[in-house]
Amino acid sequence: MRQRVFSGMQPTGIVHLGNLMGALTNWAAMQDDHDCIYCVVDLHAITAPFEPEEMRAARTDLAKAIMAVGVDPDRSLLYRQADVPEHVELMWLLGVDATMGPLGRMTQYKEKSDKAGERFGLFAYPLLQAADILIHRVHAVPVGDDQTQHLELTRDIAERFNNRYGETFPIPDRITPPVGARVSSLQDPTAKMSKSDPNPHAMVGVFEDPDAIMKKFKRAVTDSGSEVRYDWDEKPGISNLLEIFSFFDGRSIDDLVAEYGDQMYGHLKVAVGEAVVEGLRPIRERYEALADDEVEEILSSHAARAREMAQSTIEDVKQAMGLA
Ligand code: TYM
Repeated sequence: MRQRVFSGMQPTGIVHLGNLMGALTNWAAMQDDHDCIYCVVDLHAITAPFEPEEMRAARTDLAKAIMAVGVDPDRSLLYRQADVPEHVELMWLLGVDATMGPLGRMTQYKEKSDKAGERFGLFAYPLLQAADILIHRVHAVPVGDDQTQHLELTRDIAERFNNRYGETFPIPDRITPPVGARVSSLQDPTAKMSKSDPNPHAMVGVFEDPDAIMKKFKRAVTDSGSEVRYDWDEKPGISNLLEIFSFFDGRSIDDLVAEYGDQMYGHLKVAVGEAVVEGLRPIRERYEALADDEVEEILSSHAARAREMAQSTIEDVKQAMGLA
């Protein structure tokens, strides 16, 4: 039997190289041998400040980007979270028993509530994420490294439910890529590339203009010294560039170090920028060829199918809990 996979991405800001390398590329690759379900998680995105009109556009636009990267709606389900209210229903059924301690200790909660204040949406966020994954009873979740804590919590919640009410959920595995699970900021290689970074030079968008991309790589912050070496402790800036290079160019990091090892940082930066621009070109072309109403139609028919699947999980959960 083919294993089932789920993952989600928030429709906020732009889709960047971290999203592409850490998650979306695996989303597309896993379609070959898994049943895949992918979701634009708009109900998560509203935990940050937003404008309704921008949200309306962003939730369709992100679906378009996901398809442009290679998620094929003939093979996979792709829908928007708010169209399938069972996610929220399951969040309550699972979350009612969650303890406050672990939720308050989530890194994302601590970081975001430091800036935005202690909001219920930020606090409950990982419970909704657990429900997203468990509602489809999946075996695997392709994500970047930064989702590790949320995945651990999901596994705990599933185990606890199974122990209390009987085998209901598979315990899902986290799937991360060998290269690109944690792409760093181009301005501070010790920080991850993030949509919420106020410095526009820190992040490279998948649909960004090629000239702008080249500029960002040329001014990427690198390390002291002059040796091109793959070493995250001593040379995080160069190591990040090498991972990006390897991802887009297809050669191994060892091969790239052999070729660029004694060249100047500047040469490496230009070569990485060129590989990225070249690699993003077909994604941009597919994105431009997709019509909004075509995407809209796919999203609503897939949401209907996802709802049917989700309702059957809710039925089982309610049966198990004595609510049906
Ligand atoms: P989000 O929208 O922030 O990011 C989407 C995906 O991109 C990955 N990612 C990165 N990978 C490598 N390097 C980076 N710098 C980088 N930045 C982001 C993320 O790991 C993620 O896989 N909480 C999730 C959304 C979510 C979800 C889910 C994911 C909601 N429900 C259920 C999986 C399953 C998030 O904020 O992703």
